[in-house]
Amino acid sequence: MTLANIEIRQAQIDDLAAIFHLGEQVFTPQDVANLYRTWDEFEITGLFNSEPENILVAEQNDQVIGFAMGTTINKAGSAWSYGHLLWLGVAPTFARAGIGDLLFSRFKELMQEKGIRILLVDTQADNDPALAFFRRQGFENPTDHVYMTMHLRKDS
Ligand SMILES: CC(C)(COP(=O)(O)OP(=O)(O)OC[C@H]1O[C@@H](n2cnc3c(N)ncnc32)[C@H](O)[C@@H]1OP(=O)(O)O)[C@@H](O)C(=O)NCCC(=O)NCCS
Repeated sequence: MTLANIEIRQAQIDDLAAIFHLGEQVFTPQDVANLYRTWDEFEITGLFNSEPENILVAEQNDQVIGFAMGTTINKAGSAWSYGHLLWLGVAPTFARAGIGDLLFSRFKELMQEKGIRILLVDTQADNDPALAFFRRQGFENPTDHVYMTMHLRKDS
């Protein structure tokens, strides 16, 4: 796979359906209990409404082949602001071609331009490709975070 003719640009409204369907292909949690963040159309429309500049697409020959979506966070009492890369996805046919790298580099630049000092990412603990990708980008200090579930019966 070649990196020729790939453009990284801010998403426009016409890209939203393509981003949604690509996300449906790449975000496939094996276990519903792990769905603490769910990929649905509101993830995109909500962010497009509030922080459109933080949604990037990778495009080749008029086709969206990857995207990055993030948000910025200002915590009360903290002098530093944070950037959270919420969703990063690359079409499986373009895997390991450097598209994720291009998207992340542009996302990082964008955050630097905004004065962000700390970037956060999160993913499932068994998502080895993503963990390898994030480590290679320079992310460190992985912190365990446990999610628990409880089944509620109608009569309880
Ligand atoms: C994670 C993801 C975005 C990487 O995108 P990509 O375009 O394939 O990544 P790149 O080609 O830029 O890869 C750069 C490096 O990341 C690591 N990497 C990427 N995919 C990997 C895999 N399947 N296994 C191991 N390492 C991997 C490697 O270090 C790779 O460098 P190398 O190919 O020279 O070894 C992509 O696999 C994806 O969309 N995954 C599903 C969605 C997801 O889990 N997103 C992250 C959480 S929101």
